[in-house]
Amino acid sequence: MEGKTPVRKIYIKTYGCQMNFYDSEKIKALMVKKGYGIADSPGEADFIAVNACSVRKHAEDRAMAFLSSHMPLRKKGARLCLLGCTANLYGEDILKKHPFIDIVCGAGNYERLPEMLGNTKRKTCSAGESENPFIEDPVIACGDISAFVTVTKGCENYCSYCVVPFTRGKLASRKPSDIYAEVRSLAGRGVKEIVLLGQNVNEYGKDSEARFTDLLEKIHNIEGILRIWFLTSHPKDIPDELLLSFKNLPKLYRHLHLPLQSGSDRLLLLMNRRYTLARYLEIIKRAREIAPDITITSDIITGFPSETEKDFEDTVSAVKKIEFDDLFIFKYSERPGTAASGMQNDVPQKEKERRHKVLLDIQEDISLKRNTLFNGRTENVFVVKPSTKKNGCFMGRSEGNKSVIFRASHSAPGTLESVVFNYADRRYLFGASCGGNDK
Ligand code: SAH
Ligand code: SF4
Ligand code: F3S
Repeated sequence: MEGKTPVRKIYIKTYGCQMNFYDSEKIKALMVKKGYGIADSPGEADFIAVNACSVRKHAEDRAMAFLSSHMPLRKKGARLCLLGCTANLYGEDILKKHPFIDIVCGAGNYERLPEMLGNTKRKTCSAGESENPFIEDPVIACGDISAFVTVTKGCENYCSYCVVPFTRGKLASRKPSDIYAEVRSLAGRGVKEIVLLGQNVNEYGKDSEARFTDLLEKIHNIEGILRIWFLTSHPKDIPDELLLSFKNLPKLYRHLHLPLQSGSDRLLLLMNRRYTLARYLEIIKRAREIAPDITITSDIITGFPSETEKDFEDTVSAVKKIEFDDLFIFKYSERPGTAASGMQNDVPQKEKERRHKVLLDIQEDISLKRNTLFNGRTENVFVVKPSTKKNGCFMGRSEGNKSVIFRASHSAPGTLESVVFNYADRRYLFGASCGGNDK
């Protein structure tokens, strides 16, 4: 229409954990509410944003490379924006270091983003702690069966290697009423699976009266929700009542992601993790007593400063003893401002890689062994989508949140399907729907 200014559009590329992905969806919904459009590609955007992660240097480098590769579009009037954890970590300094960046807006400051983009001043920055770290309104613009919902922001545990306390600030728990409102609204729009997010969800309510297990129970009662999961948990905050939820709440995936980081007590102390291997083993034992088939996954760091062959062997033997269902293994990366950055990063890169590979290989066999235990069992699988790997098959998640590929003549995403498992590989349980003639 003549005289009407075209809608200005933002493109957002996201790196990092689920929290950044959740935030990006919220930002998009907020921008639409404020009259902006969402671009499908950087080329058609007025604002090219990267929601960046700083947990390891490699993640940060990839995000910054994405942004700098779009420098030529600045000449055509586009403005480049750095959002997320990396924006909070470096704040205004990054505008000097990387002059191609125009706008810096850290996680927790997104309510201000529409106003910042409207500002014609070339360079603006909003980073650090804010009064309103959660975007309460509007809820996610989602057309999916599954959604993330953030319950806490920030972390004050200061594990010595970790940058998150510097990127996401102090712990803040979202009000239960806001969380329920969001889940109800998502359920009303067809969402069936909710993943509750926090750096350490089990610290939910530490700064208020609310309790995480109450949250789980209340969300469990919301009509339309079929499956619930949460991450991440810290081994220092695992009360028995949380483990009992795996038995008492059938909609909860029987899956605990519990980062171990190292099997050496000497390193756990240096990492400021505040538990010993013995305590960790006790939690696993109790979890398996309560829910014998519970899926347990974990994170390990190889090559933390001063990690000796003996420390590494302690980790290897812990991994073999525990038999995780899956394991995420990271090579130690020195991060600015962390306590470990004052220690000597003395394990050579090659050795970090070797240790990483040793653990990966060990875990391959363990994952296969754990998955094979399910052969012959029947479970209610949450159907996600038609399989892209196998014709006539669907992809779903088992009751323990394992990936499943099952044969069925028809099935619908967002429903539960009774599936009998008949074989497994390291990544998937394979089976067939028990309904009809699908075997
Ligand atoms: N809040 C979660 C994890 C956050 S980061 C928790 O407390 O468990 C996800 C994983 O990245 C961590 O569990 C850790 O294994 C890994 N990680 C964090 N900082 C790292 C670093 N500096 N180098 C390598 N891996 C790191
Ligand atoms: Fe990082 Fe530790 Fe906090 Fe997890 S608990 S986010 S590893 S400081
Ligand atoms: Fe990365 Fe921030 Fe998540 S640093 S791991 S995106 S909390």
